[in-house]
Amino acid sequence: MESELQVVNPATEEVIASVPTATRRDVEEAVARAHGAQARWSALAPAERARLLRRFATVVDEHREELAWLEVREAGHPVTNARWEAGNVRDLLDYCAGGVERLNGAQIPVAGGVDLTFAEPLGVVAVIAPWNFPMPVAAWGSAPALAAGNAVILKPAEQTPLTALRLAGLAREAELPEGLFQVLPGEGPVAGAALVEHPGVAKVVFTGSTAVGREIMARCAGTVKRVTLELGGKSPNIVFADADLERAAATAPGAFLDNTGQDCCARSRILVQRTAYDRFLELLEPAVRAVSVGDPAQPATAMGPLISRAQRDRVSGFVPADAPVLIRGTAPEGPGFWYPATVLEGRPGEPATEQEVFGPVAVVLPFEDEAEAVTLANATPYGLAASLWTRDTARALRVSRAVRAGNLSVNSHSAVRYATPFGGYQQSGLGRELGPDALAAFTETKNVFISTEEQQ
Ligand code: NAI
Ligand code: MG
Repeated sequence: MESELQVVNPATEEVIASVPTATRRDVEEAVARAHGAQARWSALAPAERARLLRRFATVVDEHREELAWLEVREAGHPVTNARWEAGNVRDLLDYCAGGVERLNGAQIPVAGGVDLTFAEPLGVVAVIAPWNFPMPVAAWGSAPALAAGNAVILKPAEQTPLTALRLAGLAREAELPEGLFQVLPGEGPVAGAALVEHPGVAKVVFTGSTAVGREIMARCAGTVKRVTLELGGKSPNIVFADADLERAAATAPGAFLDNTGQDCCARSRILVQRTAYDRFLELLEPAVRAVSVGDPAQPATAMGPLISRAQRDRVSGFVPADAPVLIRGTAPEGPGFWYPATVLEGRPGEPATEQEVFGPVAVVLPFEDEAEAVTLANATPYGLAASLWTRDTARALRVSRAVRAGNLSVNSHSAVRYATPFGGYQQSGLGRELGPDALAAFTETKNVFISTEEQQ
């Protein structure tokens, strides 16, 4: 029996598409097809694989507007962000295409012969993507996996299958072999779980909640699957009193409101040195209020709606009626899953201060000195990202090294670039995506020793 996913525009609550869901049987068939395609793909000359991936990048580039508007409609992303996202897919495909012919092995000095290593593809890789950045995250797993010689089966999130399906169509337009990059929209516990359990899938790349990531990691143990996990965060934005406070305050809203806070890197714990606390809040208030919230189709819009009613209920659960609100922005009335930007006084022990909200909500906490800033920053089971603002370069380096997180930004908030590694410490994840080693995460190292002894 086949069911359908209703795709809802979160800015209007209109159903914009319905998409059949993959069954366990569909997963079986997709894995079988992927094995055939992978064998053909990895047998192609490296230069030919690189050329096909570059062509895929070109076709994505030609359809950038279409992809961006799909992301606006199915995920409620402001169009300016969505355009960046489509460009990010193109750029990453290009970047990874450049790696195909650079997947070098090593020659290691040993006695009695020659020792070589080969970076071989794993086989079939499953990418399980979330709804918050449907298009880029799908590409972060898929592009390097394909470049390293694997086949990919992508399962998009229930809420956001449309850009993924379109990317699969564009891959065929670019003449990637049939079955090499398949997209199976479906439910996590059905299609997702079937991929995780399938003995023919060599690796799972998962981005989503820490709870599901933990379960996937445990289930991967059944077949000793490789796994990359990009999970939650509660990332700090540390503002020292010697910082450019104007700049720190002007950029702090974007750092927790971008994508309506549905960002695993959201800097949602703003830690401010006590001597600058009042001044910083004075500057923060107008900056939060200035963020334009509304129709994602308008190029000037900075913040759209949350993804779903369920997500809005979840987010509002973190802000009870008696919450210590310091700043509150505005949000449109009427249809759409809107939620205003909200800054709360941080209170250790409270859910909004301790847990990932995944909405436009930040807490502010004061600290006395550098040591306390580091202690507060590290007082979380997560460790994805952190920003710090100071004019003291030595301190910037000290604190960058002391904060246990994968992605630090000094006097900035930018975290994710396709050319630099991305991933989390502790319960924010396992493994790294992107960057110079992106392809290596999709290979096995084979060691071959060749004796140089004379043969009789
Ligand atoms: P989720 O973790 O359930 O969903 C992410 C992906 O995993 C989706 O494709 C889903 O279909 C799949 N999935 C779910 N259960 C699965 C299973 N048993 N086996 C295999 N795949 C499975 O996230 P959800 O429920 O959509 O969001 C809940 C919360 O998770 C959010 O409020 C947020 O806090 C967090 N989250 C964090 C993300 C991040 O980037 N760090 C992304 C999405 C959600
Ligand atoms: Mg879930």
